[in-house]
Amino acid sequence: MRVLAIESSCDETAAAIVTDGHCVLSDVVATQTAVHAKYGGVVPELASRNHVVDIVPVVQQALATAGLDWPEVDAIAVTRGPGLVGALLVGLQVAKALAYALNKPLVPVHHLAGHLHAVYLHGPTEPRPAGPAFPHLALAVSGGHTALYRVDASDRVTQIANTRDDAAGEAFDKVARMLGLGYPGGPVVERGARGGDPSAHTFTLPRFKDGGLDFSFSGLKTAVLTVVQRRGALPEGQDLADLLASFQAAAVAQLVDRTVAATQAHGLRDVVLAGGVACNTALREAARAALLPRGGRVHVPPPRWCTDNAAMIAGAAHAAALRLAGAGHDPADRRINASGTWRLTAA
Ligand code: KG4
Ligand code: ZN
Repeated sequence: MRVLAIESSCDETAAAIVTDGHCVLSDVVATQTAVHAKYGGVVPELASRNHVVDIVPVVQQALATAGLDWPEVDAIAVTRGPGLVGALLVGLQVAKALAYALNKPLVPVHHLAGHLHAVYLHGPTEPRPAGPAFPHLALAVSGGHTALYRVDASDRVTQIANTRDDAAGEAFDKVARMLGLGYPGGPVVERGARGGDPSAHTFTLPRFKDGGLDFSFSGLKTAVLTVVQRRGALPEGQDLADLLASFQAAAVAQLVDRTVAATQAHGLRDVVLAGGVACNTALREAARAALLPRGGRVHVPPPRWCTDNAAMIAGAAHAAALRLAGAGHDPADRRINASGTWRLTAA
């Protein structure tokens, strides 16, 4: 089963073809970073317009790279949300048009189901990763989300913690912006933090009175701003590295603290890190250092499948695509209910 997927929920125009839910035949991402960088964040209207420009060449390149012709594609998948409405619309319209014209099943996929699936992907010449056993814990940590999920099956996912304000990636982006370091903030902050002293500034770990596992990053962002305002000038050199290292350490400490607590509360050993912030080496290392001695296992996709891409969407669509293409299915009804691919329940 070869699924061609389109992802356009934010500022990456992406298309990919994945076979049997895990082997990535092609994976094309046209990033709009340069378009949005001068604004210090994603401008939704510009994102939509650039998706319109990029989507057809990106889809054509995905097909060409995989060495396939249209009849060899068995299903079309597309990110249905969450994301920027105008941006999503572009991918959805192209996916619907392709499914209609080719008479193939159309599978709408929840963006986070894609991020959680990324850990099972591999290239045609790479070994298939063992992947986490069910049930497992997933920390989805990106520019739009910071949440913990208990994953009992690929389509049975329960949210057990969420951010009460900013997402972690958003905090990286906003801190980079306030320090004049550009967009996206995550990679610049990580680079700038190298050689910095993570204990130069003490930022407190937020705790909630109800003892919940929820996250909060707006206080940390304000604390960094307060340091800058007290100095009266933007930090440079070693001062800048120290501030970035301290911020990163505080963000990572919070993510790992909640993740460890959730594994204990739910008796889970396998932990998946997913989403753009999972590229962060300090987070990967801290999660391993905290979980491995407790008998835990940490699964992290390679960086190219942590940030937004269409391969994760194609992979996540596999089971639903199989059902739709299966024998006995009415060919006149080639769509699936939007909730059919991923059921998210609150704890
Ligand atoms: O998953 P993603 O590509 O898009 C969303 O679904 O949001 O995540 C993008 C986010 C951005 O906030 C970016 O700053 C952050 O991931 N990010 C990082 C790193 N690389 C990307 N954050 C921390 N460290 C990184 N190395
Ligand atoms: Zn994402």
